[in-house]
Amino acid sequence: MRAAAGFLVLCYLAVSHAWRCSEGPRLYNARQIDAGQGKVVATNSYGHVHFLIGSSWYRMSSIRFKHASIGPAGLWATGNSGDKVYKYIAGNFVASGGLLRQLDAGGDGQVVGVTSSSSTWCLRSDYASSFKGSGSVSWSNLSRVMKYISCGKYGCWGTDTNNRIFFTQTLSPTTCGNSRWSQISGSAAMVEVGTDGSVFVVNRSGQLYQRLGISSRYRSGTSWRAVSMRMPVRHVAYDLGNLWVVTTSGLLMKCTH
Ligand SMILES: *[C@@H]1O[C@H](CO)[C@@H](O)[C@H](O)[C@H]1NC(C)=O
Ligand SMILES: *[C@@H]1O[C@H](CO)[C@@H](O)[C@H](O)[C@H]1NC(C)=O
Repeated sequence: MRAAAGFLVLCYLAVSHAWRCSEGPRLYNARQIDAGQGKVVATNSYGHVHFLIGSSWYRMSSIRFKHASIGPAGLWATGNSGDKVYKYIAGNFVASGGLLRQLDAGGDGQVVGVTSSSSTWCLRSDYASSFKGSGSVSWSNLSRVMKYISCGKYGCWGTDTNNRIFFTQTLSPTTCGNSRWSQISGSAAMVEVGTDGSVFVVNRSGQLYQRLGISSRYRSGTSWRAVSMRMPVRHVAYDLGNLWVVTTSGLLMKCTH
C-alpha cells in the first residue's frame, strides 16, 4: 500500500509540473522576450520591440534594440548599436544615460543590467521611477562580473561568462545594496526571474530548466527540473502563469501548466 501511495504522489507531481506549449502569437524572427505585470514585449532579429495586444504584436518604435524588459520599474531597453539605455515615456523610448547590453525591470522597482564588458549595475527604484527624460540617471556598480542578471520577489539571479549561476537573496530596490552572492549548482547562459519569484534558466545547448522548491524560507530553491521543448531555446520569460519561450530558430512558444 505504501508503495502504491508513493507512486500516485509521483504521478501527481509529474502532471502538475508539466508545461503545455503551443505556438504563441506569431512574431517573425523573434529573438528575445520579457513579461511583467501582465504585459509582454519581444524583440525580433531586426531589433524592433513589439508589444502584445490580444493575439497581435505591435511595433513600438523605429529605434533598434538589443534587449527590452518590462516590469514594476516600467519598460526599459538597450540600443542595438552602442548599448544606450532607454526608458519608455509617453509613447517613446527616451535615452537615459548609461550603457548596458542586457537589463531587467522585473524587480521591486529597481532596474539591473550588465555591460558588454560584464560589469553589473543597478538603478535605484526612486531614480528609475522619477526619470522623466531629461538629464541622466546615476547607476550603482554592483562590483560583480556577470553576463546576465534578473530579479524577482525572492532575490536576484545572474550568470557569468563561464555560465556559472549566482544568487543573492537581497538586493535593496531603494539603495541597490546587495547581500552576498552564492554560486548555485548547474550551468546556464541566461536566467529569468518572474516578478513572483519563479526562476528559469537556459543552458548553452538550449535546454530549459525551472528552479523548484523556491519559497520565502528556501529563497534559492532546491533543484532544477528540465522543461522539455522540441527545439533548442534561445530565451525565456515568465509572468502570471505564462511561460514564453523563444527558440534558436526564432519561433515563439507560449506554455501554461
Ligand atoms: C565596476 O565594478 C567592476 C567590478 O568590481 C570593476 O571592474 C569596474 O571597474 C567598476 N566600474 C566602474 C566604472 O567603477
Ligand atoms: C545542457 O543540459 C543538457 C541536458 O541536461 C546537458 O546534457 C548539457 O551538458 C548541458 N549543457 C551545458 C553547457 O550545460
